[in-house]
Amino acid sequence: MKILVTGASGQFGRRAADLLLEVLEPGELVLVSRRPESLADFARRGVEVRAGDFDQPHTLDSAFAGIDRLLLISTDSVGAKRRRQHGNAIAALKRAGVGHIIYTSFIGASVDNPAISASEHGATEALLRATGIPCTFLRDSQYSEAIAQFVAPDALLTGRWMTATGEGQIGLVSREDCVACAVAVLTGSGHENKVYNLTGPQLLSYRQCAQLTAEYGGRPVEYIPCSEEQKYAFFDALGVPRRIEGDGPIAGPIPWPSEEMVSFERALREGYFAVLSDDVKTLIGRPPISLRQIFEQYSATIQAAVAAQSVAH
Ligand SMILES: NC(=O)c1ccc[n+]([C@@H]2O[C@H](COP(=O)([O-])OP(=O)(O)OC[C@H]3O[C@@H](n4cnc5c(N)ncnc54)[C@H](OP(=O)(O)O)[C@@H]3O)[C@@H](O)[C@H]2O)c1
Repeated sequence: MKILVTGASGQFGRRAADLLLEVLEPGELVLVSRRPESLADFARRGVEVRAGDFDQPHTLDSAFAGIDRLLLISTDSVGAKRRRQHGNAIAALKRAGVGHIIYTSFIGASVDNPAISASEHGATEALLRATGIPCTFLRDSQYSEAIAQFVAPDALLTGRWMTATGEGQIGLVSREDCVACAVAVLTGSGHENKVYNLTGPQLLSYRQCAQLTAEYGGRPVEYIPCSEEQKYAFFDALGVPRRIEGDGPIAGPIPWPSEEMVSFERALREGYFAVLSDDVKTLIGRPPISLRQIFEQYSATIQAAVAAQSVAH
């Protein structure tokens, strides 16, 4: 059995490769990346590393040849570019005759979801279904690592958490659990044509996340509910573009256009992400990691923000 991971040099891909090598022989694993040289450590362990770029369809036939199961890791682009990238990859997977595709989708994925990213994932799922190839959709919720690594430190630095999410809730999940689920599906059986909702142990509003942040940082964090217009104005002031012109790259301090982030907040507020499921435990046999546990893991990052805030004031 040959198992392939696309976009293998990212955080998800590298961790998946590490976990796969705990159960597979190196010769059973193929890693594909735009930058195969960044996976030299895996090549030294006997893993086949191939070049493949969803922006360059001609690279994909050789990248996907001779594969039984494949983990399709969604790219980090947004908008028309990501739709085109995923379309290129799926067309090549069909040509290559891959036996089973496992796709990292997003919670609430649907073309009707107001969040641009969730609607893109819905469109990709539809393209995958249309291939007729057995697929498994892993609908990852928002990663709690992103909250612990970026959002919570920023809230502690500024003392504010301003959001248009209202009292909407989401079941934040750890990337680590999502990778473990992907590996369980790639190496297990009976997962064809299933959808798994990968969520953490509880639904949380961002107000509750802000409270937890203040508790961990030992500093107040003011929770400021705002309108979408106010959130756009906030991003405008930072110089974040509302939309991507062409294929990017995105100029400015944040690698996403504000339309993407504000539409995400609207979907969260309107309940599109309020999904709680036991699928993580079903797939990996242990309960999902909580946001508190992730905050413990990132305590150095959180404490660094607290220290910087103390210096600034
Ligand atoms: N659920 C969530 O909250 C959440 C949060 C963040 C990300 N995500 C999604 O999960 C994915 C993996 O997350 P991550 O943390 O591993 O992100 P990451 O470290 O930023 O990795 C991004 C991945 O996208 C791949 N990629 C980018 N452009 C590509 C192209 N033209 N062709 C093929 N692959 C391309 C990269 O592959 P190479 O560089 O190896 O080619 C890389 O593995 C992200 O791309 C995103 O779609 C979900």
